[in-house]
Amino acid sequence: MADEKNKLKPLATGDRTIPPEDAKMIPVFIMGREYTVPETLTVMKAVEYAGYTYVRGCGCRGGICGACATFYRFIGDYKLRAGLACQTIVEPNMIIVQLPFFPANRPGYDLENLGGDPHEALRSLYPEVFKCVGCGTCTRTCPMDIDVMDYIALMKRGDLKGAAYKSFDCVLCGLCASRCPAQISQFTAAMFVRRLYGKTGLPRAAHLEKRVEEVKGGKYEKVMKELVAKDMEEVKKLYVDREREPDLAEPGKWLPEDKKYL
Ligand code: SF4
Ligand code: SF4
Ligand code: FES
Repeated sequence: MADEKNKLKPLATGDRTIPPEDAKMIPVFIMGREYTVPETLTVMKAVEYAGYTYVRGCGCRGGICGACATFYRFIGDYKLRAGLACQTIVEPNMIIVQLPFFPANRPGYDLENLGGDPHEALRSLYPEVFKCVGCGTCTRTCPMDIDVMDYIALMKRGDLKGAAYKSFDCVLCGLCASRCPAQISQFTAAMFVRRLYGKTGLPRAAHLEKRVEEVKGGKYEKVMKELVAKDMEEVKKLYVDREREPDLAEPGKWLPEDKKYL
């Protein structure tokens, strides 16, 4: 049985984390059950290795979409830790659970009709922001190392531009909100503030307006239909062969050789 546990299984999905043949096998606990997985895997791949299939809680696999919010503890350690399943490497005796969704406060609003004072708009949509007790749990929980408590403090002070910039790297995972004793949905309030600042504090992006007009005018209809008609292997090949911006390209300077869709 022990040998069986330590044998490497092929991974069910993806090709990015095929474990090396001599990968050490370690015990982890996924939703309360023990599994033995290669130590080289991310939590996400370990969950798949253990036989689970993601139907939610997995998106970009690259630390961008925030779909894979995860809590974990180590056996014998009281400390609750948090991370993104696609970015956190498994360690022995991790007890793991993913947060598939968090019921955050998401009030409806129309940015065109909010009235004059943005700070008042924030107060009326997210009154709980003003109840922050400054405990810092959100900042300690954030997998993006954002000073969440600080952007909430900026919101309270009415510095919405500061809060918009400070929260810019938020991936909307919801981990901060799930731990807040004041029941603040920091990430949805921050999204509102960024939208508001984008609308009222930043110059309009002329190139984006042009692109929106092109989309509305049907410039991409034909190529979209052609893409949809292709089979999966063709789409994969197109994806793999696509022109890519070099890692060290000067920001804003690189252009692809094929400019017909620009
Ligand atoms: S601010 Fe909150 S929702 Fe955004 S990345 Fe950090 S923990 Fe996740
Ligand atoms: S967890 Fe909630 S109460 Fe604590 S600092 Fe963050 S926003 Fe404020
Ligand atoms: S799957 Fe998108 S951040 Fe993890």
